[in-house]
Amino acid sequence: MAFSFPTMKRGASQPLLGIDVTASSVKLVELVPGTRTGMKLERYAIEPIERGAIVDGHVEKPEAVASAMTRAIRRTGTRARVAALALPSSEVITKRIMLPAGLLEEDYEVQVESEASQYIPFPIDEVNLDFQILGPSEQSPDDVEVLLAASRKERIEDRVAIAEMAGLKPIVVDVQPYAARLAIDHVCSFLPGAGAGMVLAVFDIGQATTSLTVVHEGKTVFEREQPFGGGVLTQDIVRCYGLSVEEAELRKRSGDLPTNYVAEVLAPFVDQAATEIARALQFFYASTPFTRIDRVFLAGGGAVTPGLAEAIAERTQVATEIMSPFQGMEIGSGVRERQLQVDAPALMVSCGLAMRRFDQ
Ligand SMILES: Nc1ncnc2c1ncn2[C@@H]1O[C@H](COP(=O)(O)OP(=O)(O)OP(=O)(O)O)[C@@H](O)[C@H]1O
Ligand SMILES: [Mg+2]
Repeated sequence: MAFSFPTMKRGASQPLLGIDVTASSVKLVELVPGTRTGMKLERYAIEPIERGAIVDGHVEKPEAVASAMTRAIRRTGTRARVAALALPSSEVITKRIMLPAGLLEEDYEVQVESEASQYIPFPIDEVNLDFQILGPSEQSPDDVEVLLAASRKERIEDRVAIAEMAGLKPIVVDVQPYAARLAIDHVCSFLPGAGAGMVLAVFDIGQATTSLTVVHEGKTVFEREQPFGGGVLTQDIVRCYGLSVEEAELRKRSGDLPTNYVAEVLAPFVDQAATEIARALQFFYASTPFTRIDRVFLAGGGAVTPGLAEAIAERTQVATEIMSPFQGMEIGSGVRERQLQVDAPALMVSCGLAMRRFDQ
């Protein structure tokens, strides 16, 4: 499901860039068909965005975002210009509705539009709408469950305009959690029995937010976002050592910090993060019929924080691993594999966007 621009044709042979834009960075991924496996990571880049350019998901400085995009494109040397973008979920209204089963595609479009007008607080001609039939309704056999998504046209146009400034041709504007699901499903396909019967919790630990997605039998059964992320540790470093945010960010990654850092700054953060995650799982148990989680996957840039996966495993008593969306893929010769190990979890959404090349 995505807001697409059907005027532009696409096919698996057409190169496509997955571009995830968040407040902290532009993340670019290009997947190509593999020779031994279905997909190959040809190139990627993570390019920081000037602070304040995007605030609460809203673009304040389009030129600054476009220039980060341009740098990401240059750095990878890609010649592809067709792109899949994503909106943060805060810019999209989603709703599950019931419609009669067995209608024609056009009839669903009409029905979705009339249903949508009840939920959307602005005129229907100011929104882009999309929908996906999820499957038969559990309550009534004559109905199907339909997921509808709506976003203000201007929000989509803003993002498209930025990509165009960077010389890109956007053909799809997805929603971040849906793009993430493509990457999650790919990783799940490597679990025993392709994850059948398992209850999987994926935490995307970003800069300012941590989002939890619980997947069971190929369905998202729970979603929740918490205002907590790796930025908390950066701020702790700023406060403790009197560094600028940029310097603290660099040193956090390189580990080039005074000897008391691990015990006095990193360890309390890891403890706090594990508490947040355990709490999110408690909330999941309390608000769903589920009584267990079989595996915790950590994604997002915060996933690689030293000691975090171990702390979460111990606190929750659930097997926990750091997720790479590129599992099972060939890796292009231009990609530095050691750096990729550190960066891969942060590329979950951009990888999911790049995978749109392969879903017809
Ligand atoms: N090697 C590393 N070690 C520790 N933390 C890291 C590392 N690399 C990135 N991070 C942290 O990950 C966070 C960024 O993660 P990510 O790129 O997934 O966030 P985002 O998607 O931009 O933010 P959000 O999801 O909140 O919008 C930052 O806080 C950054 O400091
Ligand atoms: Mg993120």
